[in-house]
Amino acid sequence: MPIEQEIAQLRDEINFHLYRYHVLDAPLISDTEYDALYRRLLALEQANPELVTADSPTQRAGADPLEGFEKVTHPAPILSLANAFNEADLRAWRTRIGRLLPDPDMTLDYVVEPKLDGLTVVLTYENGRFSQGATRGNGEVGEDITQNLRTIVALPKRIPVDPNSELTPPPTLVVRGEVFFPLDKFEALNAARLAAGEPIYMNPRNTAAGSLRQLDPAKTAERPLTLYCYDWIAWEGVEPPTTQWQRLERLRQYGFPVSPDSRHCANLDEVAVAYSDWIAKRNTINYEVDGVVVKINERPLADSLGFVGKDPRGAVAMKFPAQEKTTKLLDVVVNVGRTGILAPTAVLEPIEIGGVIVRNATLHNYDEIARKDVRLGDTVLVKRAGDVIPYIIGPVVELRDGSERPISTPTHCPVCGEPAVRPEGEVAIYCDNLSCPEQLVRRVEYFVSRGAMDVDGFGSQTAVLLAEKGLIHDIADIYYLERDTLLTLEGFKDKKVDNLLNGVAASKQQPPARVLTALGIRYVGSVVAGLLIDALGGIDQLAAASVERLQEIEGIGERTAVAVTSWFANERNRAVLEKLRTAGLTFAAAPPATATARADTLAGLTFVITGTLPTLSRDEAKALIEAHGGKVTGSVSKNTSYLLAGEKAGSKLSKAQSLGVPILDEASLMALLHPAI
Ligand code: IVH
Repeated sequence: MPIEQEIAQLRDEINFHLYRYHVLDAPLISDTEYDALYRRLLALEQANPELVTADSPTQRAGADPLEGFEKVTHPAPILSLANAFNEADLRAWRTRIGRLLPDPDMTLDYVVEPKLDGLTVVLTYENGRFSQGATRGNGEVGEDITQNLRTIVALPKRIPVDPNSELTPPPTLVVRGEVFFPLDKFEALNAARLAAGEPIYMNPRNTAAGSLRQLDPAKTAERPLTLYCYDWIAWEGVEPPTTQWQRLERLRQYGFPVSPDSRHCANLDEVAVAYSDWIAKRNTINYEVDGVVVKINERPLADSLGFVGKDPRGAVAMKFPAQEKTTKLLDVVVNVGRTGILAPTAVLEPIEIGGVIVRNATLHNYDEIARKDVRLGDTVLVKRAGDVIPYIIGPVVELRDGSERPISTPTHCPVCGEPAVRPEGEVAIYCDNLSCPEQLVRRVEYFVSRGAMDVDGFGSQTAVLLAEKGLIHDIADIYYLERDTLLTLEGFKDKKVDNLLNGVAASKQQPPARVLTALGIRYVGSVVAGLLIDALGGIDQLAAASVERLQEIEGIGERTAVAVTSWFANERNRAVLEKLRTAGLTFAAAPPATATARADTLAGLTFVITGTLPTLSRDEAKALIEAHGGKVTGSVSKNTSYLLAGEKAGSKLSKAQSLGVPILDEASLMALLHPAI
């Protein structure tokens, strides 16, 4: 193929993958594969500089912004970095820049920072106030996502954050940071989605991207996103320190979150050690890193080296070896979930990835399988990052020998044999048979689990055994188990039976929000259950509510409203409900006095704000509370849930005190929103 043609093809291909990655957040190939394409294009262009065009992907960063957000022109280009893949590449970089230095062998010191696999954001502060936040977009123009960024707790709304800081608010400061989804939170989110019968998210980065691009900031606020900042992009009326290490420190002093894992290295050998240390610990930290960024510490020197295309010469990204490996796809088994979801799970030829043997991986859903054209017997690329469920990126088509067979979408439940159904607008397929034995076990497991009815002494094995012996046919049956029958089961002695029956009896005291959660209605996890019960007062009111009424409730969308009403419209579900009522479960909420804020929402709570808060303006605090579902009113009454009070609070504070309204400061509000951050 002529060089021109290959270059043109590579550009088209790369542009397409950039679009998939940056605009749609749905990459089709791995970073490793993308890097290979990109390097091939770069090499061809370097060998044939006359063929470089302005629109080549090597000449710009990222892709075009989405429609729907305002565009923002960055005050300076938001640059990218050249890649190195090992120590030899690192030393080659040092040699190359040596030619541009006054003395090629001079000792340079460096800062080694984690290369966070998140989303670049550009944050503008005017007179110390957060005034605008944007995505990187194409490096010159990004999208205005200020409102979404405001919902990120770790993002300072005013700098310096510490009111006692010696620093004064800088007239203009634009910083660069990386927003990401902490891995523990990501796993918790997926665990909750699995429990609620919803499809799980693919990976933390895309989920963070999706959350940031929500047109509705309340949606972003539901996600525990956070960020680390690492660069000064533009400034006026304030001078940044001259070294990168001090710039990080100054950002910290202003109150920006800065990675605690950055290191100052006196020479290149120390950098190489830092890199190997990172490879060893990359799976033990709570965010995804795909490498380290090595930066020349002296910024004037680093900046004087200029650029190659969009990559500054003064820094280099050292990628980690991929946590992606290829292996054979031996089989695809169907897992039946509690809601009847039929989830495809890959059975792999066992393979070690990053120190862990991977035997199974998720294929997400059958649409994904079709889209990626994965086939049985394929060599597939598997990715594992941190403790996130390993997943299949796609097949290595070149390695096919013709023996691969297509993966069929199940037409029937593999356990009970009932036809599989696919609700309109959903990617998942379901077994709709409420008496499917597998679903029954999963439903009972879920019903008694810690986040639901929390029945002591009732484990998975008990659920399986009771279902097998035909002692339970629905979740309510656990309240009608008889001592004498249980004693006939193998391994069930007096003590074990007592424990089980006591646990079951004690669970009758659980509040209605837990009962509702435990019913396992699609999309109704503990948070949504709390919203519904708070708004309506109990399960009977919920059963009587229309789709329209449910949608009036803050935080309840159409999808949930429909799922709830159709659950209650089902006669078999009604019968189970009556059995639960007869057993003595609590259906009506206690009076509102006992209502407390849930971990991630302020729904149902009314706030009054007074005084000067340390970092938030009143409008910002109001927006934050509202983004979490709370209400803000102007005057304190006995219906006020909390008074949010800052310095110089006046009459509202004394009124709240006299009425016994609890008083919060800004930090306690933050703790209420994100207890674990
Ligand atoms: S420095 C000129 N530092 O990695 C400065 N980038 O290819 C260029 N990234 O998309 C960026 N963590 O968003 C820098 N500590 C860090 C970073 C970092 C993550 C991302 C950045 C860019 C890519 C660089």
